[in-house]
Amino acid sequence: MRDINQFTITEAVKKSFRTEEGSRFEQLLHGLIDHLHDFTREQQVTHEEWMRVLMFLYDCGQISTPERHEFILLSDVLGWSALVDMINTRGGATEGSNLGPFYLDDAPRKPLGSDISDGRDGVTILVHGKVTDSLHNPLPGAIVDTWQADGSGTYPIQEQAQGQDKMDLRGVFEADASGRYWYTTVLPKPYTVPYDGPVGELLRAGNRHAWRPAHLHYIVRHPGMAAITTEVFFEKMDYLENDAVFGVRKSLVAKVSPAKDVDALGYEVAAKPDAVVEFDFILAPES
Ligand code: BEZ
Ligand code: FE
Repeated sequence: MRDINQFTITEAVKKSFRTEEGSRFEQLLHGLIDHLHDFTREQQVTHEEWMRVLMFLYDCGQISTPERHEFILLSDVLGWSALVDMINTRGGATEGSNLGPFYLDDAPRKPLGSDISDGRDGVTILVHGKVTDSLHNPLPGAIVDTWQADGSGTYPIQEQAQGQDKMDLRGVFEADASGRYWYTTVLPKPYTVPYDGPVGELLRAGNRHAWRPAHLHYIVRHPGMAAITTEVFFEKMDYLENDAVFGVRKSLVAKVSPAKDVDALGYEVAAKPDAVVEFDFILAPES
């Protein structure tokens, strides 16, 4: 008979899995079992606490749909998503940040200089910059895929029932021969992550709010370079210091400048901007 107690159980559980020795799967599984068991012993977890956690996870599953993934939201508010982004940012490249739940992989290609505000009210901003490698060599043809909330903090995809087009406030641009991209849009507003489910309950239990600072989302790609998923924030805006999902990094906060010198930038744009946001993306080689 197995002689098992609260100290020998950890090795017994690890051994019970017949994983390929030295494989990544084995490493991750053993690490998880070690930490979970250590945590349980350290905290002397009670039956009630253990069941509360399992019911919380059950509730996360119950509220999840293909459009609402409560487990990712849980990962976000625990800073786990941000930690994975930080660990996987390549040296010299733009820092990674949340993908969030509103990305669509079939957003329309648009010519440089387009306005992607789709008639939404608010402050019109010219967003521009360069896509380069870490030695500042331009990456012509880089793909800049962007999506964002509107001037009231809503993603059109969240309001399709109210007649909004999920493809609004999105665009896929191809950088020019100098690696430059530019377009106009509306300055987004802060918004809350969904807090009507178990993750909202967790936030309330910890006296936390659900707000995210205003941001623009990006995926930037170029052949031979590692794609980056990131966000650009705006200086002096609310919630930069306490983003509910820990997405803000100092290097991702851009200045919002008055639009007085737009002509000097030499861009052709479809809408007259009130302000200018400049942000350069740096990609690192794939391997
Ligand atoms: C977002 O940035 O769109 C987002 C990120 C995490 C949770 C919900 C929304
Ligand atoms: Fe977002």
